Amino acid sequence: MDILIFGGQGQVGTELLHLDWGSGVTLHAPTRQQIDVADEAAVRAEVGSRDWACIVNAAAYTAVDAAENDVVTAWRANALFPAVLAAASARANIPIVHVSTDYVFDGRSDVAYRPHDPVAPINVYGASKEAGEQAVRTANPRHVIVRTAWVVSPHRGNFVKTMLRLANERDGLRVVHDQKGCPTSAADLAAALRVIALRHAADPSAPCGTHHFVNQGVTTWCDFARAIMAGARTRGARAVPVEPIGTSDYKTPARRPANSALSTESLTRDFGIVPRPWQQALDDILDVLLVRHADRSGERP
Ligand SMILES: NC(=O)c1ccc[n+]([C@@H]2O[C@H](COP(=O)([O-])OP(=O)(O)OC[C@H]3O[C@@H](n4cnc5c(N)ncnc54)[C@H](OP(=O)(O)O)[C@@H]3O)[C@@H](O)[C@H]2O)c1
Repeated sequence: MDILIFGGQGQVGTELLHLDWGSGVTLHAPTRQQIDVADEAAVRAEVGSRDWACIVNAAAYTAVDAAENDVVTAWRANALFPAVLAAASARANIPIVHVSTDYVFDGRSDVAYRPHDPVAPINVYGASKEAGEQAVRTANPRHVIVRTAWVVSPHRGNFVKTMLRLANERDGLRVVHDQKGCPTSAADLAAALRVIALRHAADPSAPCGTHHFVNQGVTTWCDFARAIMAGARTRGARAVPVEPIGTSDYKTPARRPANSALSTESLTRDFGIVPRPWQQALDDILDVLLVRHADRSGERP
C-alpha cells in the first residue's frame, strides 16, 4: 500500500520516514522543492496521482513568532493547504491524519486540555492551525487530527538543541518558569501517527476525530531546561545553571499559552496508544545528540 506524507523533512516527518512501516508499505514524501503546499493545483494532482491508503500531514508553517508578521504565508500552509488536502482526499475517499497544536488553546485552564475543550488561539500561528483543523474536520469525514506540543528531536531547530548550544556559549541560562506543558519526542509522536495511519489504511470504520499526543508528564520550560542540563552533564557535555524568569521578562512577538498540558486519554481509548514519560524520551534524544557525537569525534561535545 502507498502512504503519502507531507512535511517529510521536518522534525516529525523525518521520524515518520525513519520508522519501519512493515513490508508492503511504500512511503511517498515529496519535498518542498517537489511540491510547495501553497500550490493548490500541485497538491490536488499529488492526491489524485494514485490510490493512497492514507495521507499524513506533518507539514506546517511552524515559525510561531515570524507568523505574527507573515500571516498570509502561515494561513496558506496551516489553513488553506489542509483545506485543499482534506477536500481532495475526501473526493477520493482517502483517510487523512493531520497534525495540529496545543496553541489552539489560550492556556488559561488549570488542568490538561482534552480534545473537545473550547479552542481560543492567542497568536497567528494558533489561529491558522485552528482554521486548518476546522477545514479537515468539515471537509473529510475520514480524518484523525492529532494535536501535539513542545516537540523535540535530534533534528532541525528545537528547545533541546537550543539549550545545548547556549550552554556551550554562556555561563548560565535564563528560562521562563511560568509556562507549563508536555515535552514530546518527535519519534514517539511519529510512532503514534503510524499506528493511526495503518489502522485507517486497513479499516474504513477505524475511529475518526480529534486527539492529543504528548509524552507523559507536565513540566515548565525552566525545569525542562534543567533536565536537559542534567542529562548533558551525565553524558560528559557542558552544562550550566538555569535561572527561572517570568514570561514578562522574556518578550516575544507572539503570545504563548501559560498552560499547554494536553490529555492523551482519548488516544489511549481509541487507539491503545500509551505515551511514555517525557524524561525517557529526552534521554533517547540526548543519547543521539551527545553520546553518539562523542563516539564519533572521540572527544566530549
Ligand atoms: N515543533 C513543535 O514544537 C510543535 C508543537 C505543536 C505542534 N506542532 C505541529 O507538529 C507538526 C510537525 O511540526 P515539526 O516540528 O515537524 O515542524 P518543522 O520541523 O518545522 O517541519 C515542517 C515541515 O513542513 C514543511 N513545509 C512548511 N511549509 C511548506 C511549504 N510551503 N511547502 C512544502 N513544505 C512546507 C517544511 O518543509 P522544509 O523542510 O522545506 O522547511 C518541513 O518539512 C506541525 O503540524 C506543527 O504545527 C509542532
